[in-house]
Amino acid sequence: MFGNLKIKKSTTKKKSKRAVKSKKKTKISKKPKVRYHPKHKHHKKVKKEIKKHRENVRKVIKRAKHPRKLNKEPRERIKTGVSGLDELIYKGIPRGNSILLAGGPGSGKTIFGLQTCFHGVKNGEKCLYMTFEESEEKLKEHMRNFGWDPDKYIKKGLFVIKRFDPFDVTRVVEAMLEKAKGELLVEAAPVSFPKGFKPQRIVVDSLSAIAAAFVGKEENYRLYIEQLFRYFEKLGATSFLITETTAIPVKYSVSGVEEFLADGVIVLYNVKKGNIRESAIEVLKLRGTKHKKKIVAMEIIDGKGIVVYPEQELISMD
Ligand SMILES: Nc1ncnc2c1ncn2[C@@H]1O[C@H](COP(=O)(O)OP(=O)(O)OP(=O)(O)O)[C@@H](O)[C@H]1O
Ligand SMILES: [Mg+2]
Repeated sequence: MFGNLKIKKSTTKKKSKRAVKSKKKTKISKKPKVRYHPKHKHHKKVKKEIKKHRENVRKVIKRAKHPRKLNKEPRERIKTGVSGLDELIYKGIPRGNSILLAGGPGSGKTIFGLQTCFHGVKNGEKCLYMTFEESEEKLKEHMRNFGWDPDKYIKKGLFVIKRFDPFDVTRVVEAMLEKAKGELLVEAAPVSFPKGFKPQRIVVDSLSAIAAAFVGKEENYRLYIEQLFRYFEKLGATSFLITETTAIPVKYSVSGVEEFLADGVIVLYNVKKGNIRESAIEVLKLRGTKHKKKIVAMEIIDGKGIVVYPEQELISMD
């Protein structure tokens, strides 16, 4: 028995020696078979993967730090073409914005609309003047008085003046509401443009004329206006929507909802100062745009159009 035990002991000793040897062996075998070399196929692949991973991490950190900068391209800006007014709006109006042109009777809203359209077509933009008040011929005549040739650009296919009947609008809206059981379809076009004409600048003259046709059905008017704003936004067209106010406005639109839907409000004043009337203009609001906040003098000059004097501030308006 003891002999057996001795023999067993001796074998365990021998085994442990072998184990040490094998450990030494494994240590040697852990040494990399291939020495690090930047040009080696395997290392090149690993380096590439690490670089890619690092770039992804860097991108995520950057996006977290400047979310707007990376996701949004700066929007193109446009000029109104009204001399002096563009100096009040530092970089211009973001393309696709909707601007309310509010003012009293005879304050120059229509002339402003025609002037901005002329500026657009002169610069190769497609412009649509939607008139709900004066005839196409009358508007063309106004333009000629200021030295703006409308026919040249109509022939070029850049300019369209189209007259609409406000009562046609109410009829269409009512039919649409009936069909859709009280809800206007967002996809449905609230206005019919000339076939194939996709305007970049639109003037609506005026929302007040449309509202007058909706008397007694104000809720329908509000629905229509919401749809109109959404439609212009979808088109990406910059729109100038004329609304008639009192000479010194306390409210800038018919229903009050327009000034909230619009990105900007420009107010035209025609105020009495003693025995004379003076014209003035103000950029009341312009979302996301730096602009001067003051009421400045303006003039309507034959053969020239609206001229704004950005340095001539109107102090009192009694
Ligand atoms: N050729 C011109 N030269 C100088 N001033 C002009 C000329 N034509 C019009 N005006 C001035 O512009 C005013 C009218 O401008 P405009 O028709 O743009 O006003 P509006 O705000 O659209 O008026 P409404 O509320 O009646 O639609 C006139 O009352 C007149 O004082
Ligand atoms: Mg007018």
